[in-house]
Amino acid sequence: MSGTYIDATTGTGGHSQYILEHTDAKLICFDADPDAFQIAKERLGKYIERVRFYNKNFVHIPEIIEENVDGVLFDLGLSSYLVNQSERGFSYRLNGPLDMRYGKTGRTAEDTIKFLDKYALSKILFDYGGVRYSKRIANVIKEKLPKTTSELAYIVRRSTGKQGKKAVMKVFQALRIYVNNEYEILKETLNNMLDIVKKSGRIVVISYHSGEGKIIMKFFRENRERLNLLTKKVVKPTETEIRENRRSRSANLRAFEVI
Ligand SMILES: C[S@@+](CC[C@H](N)C(=O)[O-])C[C@H]1O[C@@H](n2cnc3c(N)ncnc32)[C@H](O)[C@@H]1O
Repeated sequence: MSGTYIDATTGTGGHSQYILEHTDAKLICFDADPDAFQIAKERLGKYIERVRFYNKNFVHIPEIIEENVDGVLFDLGLSSYLVNQSERGFSYRLNGPLDMRYGKTGRTAEDTIKFLDKYALSKILFDYGGVRYSKRIANVIKEKLPKTTSELAYIVRRSTGKQGKKAVMKVFQALRIYVNNEYEILKETLNNMLDIVKKSGRIVVISYHSGEGKIIMKFFRENRERLNLLTKKVVKPTETEIRENRRSRSANLRAFEVI
C-alpha cells in the first residue's frame, strides 16, 4: 500500500505505527491531546520522512490539509492513555480534577457543571449518556457542584442506588461528549471528508457507543450517492484483541469507499 492517509486520532500512535511498519504509505497524524501526541511523535520518529504531525482537533483538517488523500482513519473517543492520567479527569476510578478536555482548552467539566442550569445538564446526561433519572442526578450535581472525579462518582452513585456503577459510567461519558463537542465535530468532519478523500479512497471509523454509530450511519444515508459501504456488517474485535485490550470490546469498525 502506498499513497497518503490521515490518522485523525493518533493517540499514542498504535495504529499509525502499524500502518507505517506494514506499508509504504505517507501518514498525516492528528490528535487534540498534546500529551499522547508527544508520545506518538517519539514512537514514530524513525518514520519522520513519511509522517507529518498536527497536534490539532480533527475538525481543522480541511483548513490544514490542502491535498487530497487516499484515506482517513477515525478511532473515536478516549484513549486508554487518557483514562489512566488521573489529572486529565476522564476516569471515574482515579481521583483527579473534573477536566475531561482532549485539547486542554475551553471549558472544563467542572466549569461546565457550574455554567449549565439543571435543565440543560439533565438534557445532556440523557441525550449523550442515556442516563436514567437524569433530572434527579442533574439536581444533585448542581446542588453539590463537584470539583473532582471522585466527588462526581460518589454523588451519582449515592443518588442512583443499584444502578450506581452504570449511571456513573454514563454520566462521565455524557459530560465528556459535551465538553469536547464530540457529536457536532464528528458530523462536520465526516461531511468534510467527502472533499478531502479521493475517489476510490477510504473513510474508516471505529466507534464505541450507539450515539457515534447513529451519526456515522446518518452520514452514510445522507451521502449514499457518494459512498459505498464496505462493511455490510460492522467489524468487531476478535477475542484475542479483547483479551489484550479490554476497551476494544465495544469497538465497531465501519469502512466506506468514496465513489
Ligand atoms: C481511541 S483513541 C485513539 C488511539 C489510537 N488509535 C492509537 O492507536 O493509539 C482516541 C484519540 O482521539 C483523540 N480525539 C478525540 N476527539 C478528537 C478530535 N475531535 N480531534 C482530534 N483528536 C481527537 C483523543 O485525544 C484520543 O487520543
